[in-house]
Amino acid sequence: MKQIITKDSSVTFHNEKFDEDYHCLAGAASEARIKFVEPCLINVLAKKGYISILDVCFGLGYNSAAAIDAALKVNPDCKIRIIGLENDENLFELIKQIKTPFKSYKLIQKLDKFNLLIIDNNIQIKIILGDARDSIKTINEKFHAVFLDPFSPKKCPELWTKEFFSDIKNVMKPGSILATYSCATHVRDKLRELGFKVKDGPIFGRKSASTVAKIVEGHEKFGK
Ligand SMILES: C[S@@+](CC[C@H](N)C(=O)[O-])C[C@H]1O[C@@H](n2cnc3c(N)ncnc32)[C@H](O)[C@@H]1O
Repeated sequence: MKQIITKDSSVTFHNEKFDEDYHCLAGAASEARIKFVEPCLINVLAKKGYISILDVCFGLGYNSAAAIDAALKVNPDCKIRIIGLENDENLFELIKQIKTPFKSYKLIQKLDKFNLLIIDNNIQIKIILGDARDSIKTINEKFHAVFLDPFSPKKCPELWTKEFFSDIKNVMKPGSILATYSCATHVRDKLRELGFKVKDGPIFGRKSASTVAKIVEGHEKFGK
């Protein structure tokens, strides 16, 4: 896979099959922090002592690594549980070779196709290998935060459907937050139809804002 140095000096790769990069060129590591970790308020959750995260499309694990770093920075004793959904087992070999700015990346680098569960002190990372649309249906726990990071709706439409979003919603706790880089109207409309409260997320690397969607406590449905 072709390696690309992004503008914050972190590396990403180009996926030939989807003809798309894993991260934005303005900064791969920065994107993980700005578009996923910060909108999901990982630092706030960390102060409470326990965070559970669903990382949809684990990829190179940048979003998870950025979340662990952010949580441990505010609370070194924080318990963190991450479930990552990914269908490409070849990525584990690539992950072992990448240098990233994330302190916790050494944990991500312990993953491989024969070792899909890492437990290190207070941190658990479990990868469910397979199509995320099937994997999501096997999960029977609920999460504080969801990182939704598939390739674009144009290149990977199957992971931007209302049905898939509904399955994601079923594993989110009341008050939990989903962050995604897409600002597409059809993505936001589907989330709203499912009862999420949708708002603009941060702007990074392009003109439009990303999307932050929240499950509001006590509200089954939430209008526009
Ligand atoms: C944009 S990349 C994710 C980048 C990742 N979040 C990171 O921080 O490095 C999208 C990922 O979705 C994965 N993917 C594509 N289709 C999938 C599917 N149906 N089920 C699970 N993962 C899929 C790809 O293999 C790729 O790793």
